[in-house]
Amino acid sequence: MQLLHTIKELRTWRKDKGFIAFVPTMGNLHDGHLALVKEAKKLVDQVVVSIFVNPIQFGTGEDFESYPRTLDADMEKLVESDVSVVFAPEINELYPSPQSVFVEPSTIQHELCGASRSGHFKGAATVVNKLFNIVQPNIACFGKKDYQQLFIIKEMVTNFNIPVQIVAVNTARAKDGLALSSRNGYLTAAERLQAPELYKKLTDLKQAITAGNKDYLGLTNEAKQQLNAQGWQVEYIEVRNAIDLQPAQTKDKNLVILAAAKLGRPRLIDNIEITL
Ligand code: PAF
Repeated sequence: MQLLHTIKELRTWRKDKGFIAFVPTMGNLHDGHLALVKEAKKLVDQVVVSIFVNPIQFGTGEDFESYPRTLDADMEKLVESDVSVVFAPEINELYPSPQSVFVEPSTIQHELCGASRSGHFKGAATVVNKLFNIVQPNIACFGKKDYQQLFIIKEMVTNFNIPVQIVAVNTARAKDGLALSSRNGYLTAAERLQAPELYKKLTDLKQAITAGNKDYLGLTNEAKQQLNAQGWQVEYIEVRNAIDLQPAQTKDKNLVILAAAKLGRPRLIDNIEITL
């Protein structure tokens, strides 16, 4: 496994490689990231993983400065996963001058997580576009935990005719159901015990909807109230059409319930798909 820091090194490595897969990350790797790598390895032998905490997708007051940077531990995990290259550029390598041209995702960027994280998806899509141009992968794996990000990346690839196949990988969960996330590390011991409640609420909602309840607003409002009463600060819980991420209509068959809620310091997100 090679650790490369510059675009030049990566391009030189890439020259004589054929079909490759790519897993973009911000590091602090957990089993969720390793599941993405595993999926990539199933499809292609040569896998590149990037580790880059992208400043332009963090808003003011967010955790860019304190985001855990754990390159040595990440490298150990990636050696075990038989990755070919880890691309870990410095900020100046990707942004030698302030970024002046951005990917502007569709209006969905302002909804759901985008309502409280202004500019987040624009920053994420822009860096993924840059990384695609640098790595030139044939396949790229993204987790379904970041459902809205996955949707926006797919939209970008389609709109810009980028020749990369996007593979969506199921959310990796702890035994108690909590979706794995680097930000789970911010939970206190007591909050960690309470954290699986978010996914439990989503599974209860799924059960109610699958049983025929189509009062999506009523159901999600009740779930919000219940979580808030238990000490959560729910930002949103919404039932959306899984194909276009628009608010779900009662005739829709492919749904996804998406949620974001703060529990103490961290803001947790999760979602669950439903096929009726
Ligand atoms: O999902 C993430 O970790 C990031 O948003 C990504 C895709 C690596 C872009 O910085």
